[in-house]
Amino acid sequence: MKQRLLFIGPPGAGKGTQASRLCDTHGLRHLSTGDLLRSEVSAGSALGKEAEAVMNRGELVSDDLVLAIVRSQLTALNGQGWLLDGFPRNVAQAQALEPLLGELQQSIEIVVLLELSDEVLVERLLARGRADDNESVIRNRLEIYRKQTAPLIDYYKSKELLVSVDAQGSVDAITTRLEERLA
Ligand code: AP5
Repeated sequence: MKQRLLFIGPPGAGKGTQASRLCDTHGLRHLSTGDLLRSEVSAGSALGKEAEAVMNRGELVSDDLVLAIVRSQLTALNGQGWLLDGFPRNVAQAQALEPLLGELQQSIEIVVLLELSDEVLVERLLARGRADDNESVIRNRLEIYRKQTAPLIDYYKSKELLVSVDAQGSVDAITTRLEERLA
């Protein structure tokens, strides 16, 4: 199993669901910037207060804030493998990740793109009903994904790190698909 992975994909593709399963099975640390930000919001920290309104609009929190969170998480790992879920979210974050990994003498082994049609992902998100899962915010998240995150597909393709995985089907079927690609 790969030890240093990125998961990218549109909202609702199943990044969090699958990342959590793979990390449990293989002893990796699951680092979801969305989950880390939501913990800050629940704790009522200054950082959480800054992030909450932005997240509820479905926009991206500032690169500096997210990078500070990722830096502190990765440097605390002491060599344990990791899966970054939802980070990087734009090319600037991807470029900032490289020197950080350089400092840690690590590199990305694989970038997984989970692909799913808009119709299915909107259905999944509406069924979940998180604070940012209403129709207009979902539309905004998708728009931001297309404009800001999708350019990472070519970015990581050009580095020969990208694999695409079909995210349609049952949770178990997708886990099996991922295990096969990441073995
Ligand atoms: P984040 O938490 O990363 O949200 P997201 O990318 O929009 O992803 P989701 O959690 O909605 O979807 P997912 O692909 O993880 O799918 P999941 O497994 O949950 O980010 C939230 C916000 O935080 C951002 O909008 C931004 O404001 C901020 N943020 C985060 N990272 C940032 C960054 N790097 N820079 C700046 N800002 C950042 O599944 C979705 C639902 O579908 C669940 O209910 C699940 O149970 C269900 N499901 C999953 N798989 C299946 C399946 N196979 N069949 C049926 N249902 C399924």
